[in-house]
Amino acid sequence: MNNQNGLKIVTIGGGSSYTPELIEGFIKRYDSLPIRELWLVDVPEGEEKLNIVGALAKRMVKEAGVPMDVHLTLNRQEALKDADFVTTQFRVGLLDARAKDERIPLKHGVIGQETNGPGGLFKGLRTIPVILDIVKDMERLCPDAWLINFTNPAGMVTEAIYRHSNWKKVVGLCNVPVGMRMGVAKALDVSPERVHVDFAGLNHMVFGMDMYLDGQNVTDTVIEKITSGDSSMTMRNIVDLGWEPEFIKALNMLPCPYHRYYYKTDEMLAQEMKDSEEKGTRAEVVQQLENELFELYKDENLNEKPEQLEKRGGAYYSDAACSLIDSIYNDRGDIQPVNTLNQGAIGSLPDDSAVEINCIITKSGPKPIAIGDLPVAVRGLVQQIKSFERVSAEAAVTGDYHKALLAMTINPLVPSDTLAKTILDEMLEAHKKDLPQFN
Ligand code: G6P
Repeated sequence: MNNQNGLKIVTIGGGSSYTPELIEGFIKRYDSLPIRELWLVDVPEGEEKLNIVGALAKRMVKEAGVPMDVHLTLNRQEALKDADFVTTQFRVGLLDARAKDERIPLKHGVIGQETNGPGGLFKGLRTIPVILDIVKDMERLCPDAWLINFTNPAGMVTEAIYRHSNWKKVVGLCNVPVGMRMGVAKALDVSPERVHVDFAGLNHMVFGMDMYLDGQNVTDTVIEKITSGDSSMTMRNIVDLGWEPEFIKALNMLPCPYHRYYYKTDEMLAQEMKDSEEKGTRAEVVQQLENELFELYKDENLNEKPEQLEKRGGAYYSDAACSLIDSIYNDRGDIQPVNTLNQGAIGSLPDDSAVEINCIITKSGPKPIAIGDLPVAVRGLVQQIKSFERVSAEAAVTGDYHKALLAMTINPLVPSDTLAKTILDEMLEAHKKDLPQFN
C-alpha cells in the first residue's frame, strides 16, 4: 500500500447525501487510519451536490483538527491515481431512475423496490457497466487498491465484478447486518458490542443463523422477543410490518428486513400501493428528504453530521465501511459480515459466487467463515436469488434482451412470463438513456 505518507482514499459518488457519514467515521478513526487525502468524485450532473457536501466535509475535517486533505473533482482518473482504497456509492440515473424502478412494477401489481424484483434488475443493468469501467481505470491507475462497493444492488454488483472482470480485490458492503446486530442488542437491551451474530446468505437476503450475548448462544431468547412483539426489527426504508410469530419460530433464524418482500409479498405490495398514493414511493420520499438534507448541508455554520441523516435507510453505513477499511489496513483479523467470494463457505451456493457472510478481515482481504449448507427451508430461495443475480449480471454486460427477460421472469416477485415481458419492455424504454448496451 502506498501509505508512507498516509492513505489515499477515493469515494466515487462523493456528492451523495450519505458522505457526511463516511467523513465522520474517518475522523473518528484517524489515529488508526491516517488518511492524508480523501478524494470525492462525481459526475457533472452531481456537481452541485458534490460542492455542497464537499464543503461540509472540509468543515467537518477542519473542526476535528485532523490533517486530512479533502479534494473534490469530476475527473475520476485524476482521483484514482495511486489510491489505496476506492469506495463506490453512486446511483446511475439518480433518484429519478429509482422512482421509475418503483412506480412501473407497482402499476402492474408487482413489488417496486430498489434492489428486489424488477427494480433490482434494472438498477443492476444501469450500474454494472459503470462499475466495470471503474475497475478498468483501477487496473491502470491503482492496481493495488481495494475496491469497497456499497452501490446497490451490492450483491449483484460484487458478483458481476468477480465474474466479468479480472479484479479480485473487491468487497461488497451493506449496513443491513449492522442494523440487525443493533436490533438484536436493542431486543436484549444491551450494547451492540456484546452481541455477535452468525450471518450467512446473500446481500439483502441474509440470515442471522445464531445469535450470541457475551459468547452465550441466545438465539431462542431473541426469537422469543421478536415473536412476542417486543421487537420487529426493520430499517427506515422498509415498512415495519410485523412477522407472523409462528413463522419466525418455525424458521428459528433472524430474517433480514428485506425478507418481508418474499415472505409477506401481498401485504408489502398493498402497503407500497397505499404509500405510493399517500406520500409517494420511497424514492420520492427520499428526494424530499435529500432536499432538506442539502439545505442543511449548505449552512456554513454546520460542521458535523446532522441527525436527520439517520432517517435514511443507510444510516450508520459508515461504521461498516470504516471498520472494514481499518481492519484491512491494520490486519486486525476481526470478524465482519461482508460480500465476498464464497469459496465453499456456504455449501449450497457456487464457490465462485459472491455471498454475504461473516469473514475474518485481514490485510489480504476477507476470509469467509464456513457454515456448511443453509437450512433446507431457505436454501431454495437463496439459490434462486443467486441465479437471478447471475443472469441479471450477464444481461447487464451483454445487453442481451433475452437474458434480461430470463432474469425478470425467474425473479420470485414476478408472477408470470407475460407480465415479465410487459414490465421489461416498459422499463427498457423508460431507462433508455442509462442503458446504452441495450440500444
Ligand atoms: C438500506 C440498505 C441499503 C439501501 C438503503 C436505502 O440501508 O441496506 O442498501 O441503499 O437502505 O435507504 P433509503 O433511505 O435510500 O431508502
